Amino acid sequence: MKGIVLSGGSGTRLYPMTRAANKQLLPIYNKPMVYYPLSTLMLAGCRQILLVVNPQDEEAYRRLFGDGRQWGLEISYAVQPRPGGIAEVFLIGREFVGGDRVGLILGDNLFYGDSLPAVAERGARGPGAVIYAYWVSDPSAYGVIELDADERPVSIVEKPRQPHSNWAVTGLYFYDGDVCDVAAGLTRSARGELEITDINAHYMRVGRLTVEKLGRGYAWLDTGTPSSLLRAAQFVETVESRQGLQIGSPEEVAWRKGYIDNAGLERLIQPIRESEYGKYLQGLLARG
Ligand code: G1P
Repeated sequence: MKGIVLSGGSGTRLYPMTRAANKQLLPIYNKPMVYYPLSTLMLAGCRQILLVVNPQDEEAYRRLFGDGRQWGLEISYAVQPRPGGIAEVFLIGREFVGGDRVGLILGDNLFYGDSLPAVAERGARGPGAVIYAYWVSDPSAYGVIELDADERPVSIVEKPRQPHSNWAVTGLYFYDGDVCDVAAGLTRSARGELEITDINAHYMRVGRLTVEKLGRGYAWLDTGTPSSLLRAAQFVETVESRQGLQIGSPEEVAWRKGYIDNAGLERLIQPIRESEYGKYLQGLLARG
């Protein structure tokens, strides 16, 4: 399965933290932000990953991930020259997608929940487009979806002033191989972007959009402002300290899913033995 992580953008709302560093490289508690969405895609079964990044950040991402082989992945990179909208990744990544089914996750989206792997795997299988809705108190900052009594989508609007529901569209999406053609047919919105909401609206119009609700037992956290970034970090710290289990560790997901074996995990631990993270990974091996 193929997956795209969009890790571009200018992160203006987090200025000056984002003046020299890309937003998705900032920490959420003990890991770079992008680790969380990457782990979510891995849980969905994606092993061929395209990272779409800003030109000036490509080198940093290559230092972070390399070619992905250490985690049993194939990671490649593409550059988004300027923030042109989420849907632009399907023009930039057309060759990578190559007509196959593909997942997309935004590099600043943190998902948490017991059934997340099963739900994401279902989306990865399809059919058509599968997106996820999450109840929020202020939906006007997001794409908003309205569902009828049979849970079928009837409207989807980007950042509406008067939302028709509290169901926000999250930054995890799965599409069939037509998505690049759909993206190529879009026109830019008033903010000059190719909108992911327009792609979803297209799939809705042709009756090929499935919306999965992530109920209140899930966490879908925002990292767009200094306060929400801190709250996300506190959430991760709270759960991790209580359980002694980490959220969003690509090494752990790779090992649990069998993308790497014990020896592979041991190799990753060697150079970071002394860190908390290294000790955590050692603990996994010791428990077996
Ligand atoms: C984007 C999408 C929006 C979605 C949100 C999820 O918003 O346009 O539909 O609800 O991501 O994080 P943006 O981050 O561009 O404001």
